[in-house]
Amino acid sequence: MVIDGKRVAASVIDDVKAASAALEKDAGVKTGLAVVIVGNDPASHAYVGAKSRTAQECGFNSVQHTLPEDTTQEELAGLVAVLNADEGLHGILVQLPLPKHLNPDPIVQSIRPEKDVDGLHVVNAGKLATGDLQGGLVSCTPAGAMFLLKRWHGNDLSGLNAVVIGRSNLFGKPMAQLLLAFNATVTIAHSRTKDLPGVCRNADILVAAVGQPEMVKADWVKPGATVIDVGINRIAAPEKGEGMTRLVGDLAFGECAKVAGVITPVPGGVGPMTIAMLMANTVIAAHRKAG
Ligand code: GUN
Repeated sequence: MVIDGKRVAASVIDDVKAASAALEKDAGVKTGLAVVIVGNDPASHAYVGAKSRTAQECGFNSVQHTLPEDTTQEELAGLVAVLNADEGLHGILVQLPLPKHLNPDPIVQSIRPEKDVDGLHVVNAGKLATGDLQGGLVSCTPAGAMFLLKRWHGNDLSGLNAVVIGRSNLFGKPMAQLLLAFNATVTIAHSRTKDLPGVCRNADILVAAVGQPEMVKADWVKPGATVIDVGINRIAAPEKGEGMTRLVGDLAFGECAKVAGVITPVPGGVGPMTIAMLMANTVIAAHRKAG
């Protein structure tokens, strides 16, 4: 069974469109999202373009700020301050990674928590960590992965072992907190974990976010497990012609699909869900502000 993340994301986006239209009709409020990108990373530009386009599709006021590679810390902080103060904007996202000379932490932490639709501010991370799933904003990729898991397993993961490979603030840690909130028994594995394949074989739910193309092999997967691939890696694809590339996840998809009970593909799995959850967070932020 291969989960169609594109189809699930489309249904979330339909709900977001309806919610933003209702807010505009009932309260005269147009949902606003600002996306900021610094520099020339082509993958980041592709993601940000998709986010801005989807925001327009949802009927939002969609604002994109594209800053040059040599933007200073002060210039970026200044832009965030302006966006924080803009009453018409309900969500602010600064695309990561930033160019090397910029420090992302003070930038992310300067976004007003109620506009932090990425869920990366310590206030939002703290609410998630203390089990307050309603009061804050949850990071979009873990929220999207959890949305898919819940459609398959329901709201109660009691008795299931979940292994998350990866411990980033953007994904691994919030993913583990979400799984815990839904009663899974959670292990966070990472590059320093001993016998990673053995740890993974114990997982009823295996979530891979390592950033290594096709690293997780079939013999890491417990037969019948639910396997969620969060990786997006571009690799050479000489079979498509010289200089061509293709996207693959962190799982060796073909072989893992034979062992797993349920699996997400790349592309078309968690990726579209990330954007859908960003839209959902933004309309939630707008509804909260409107009261
Ligand atoms: N870069 C890759 N994924 C993300 C994300 O979810 N949010 C931000 N801000 N940057 C990213």
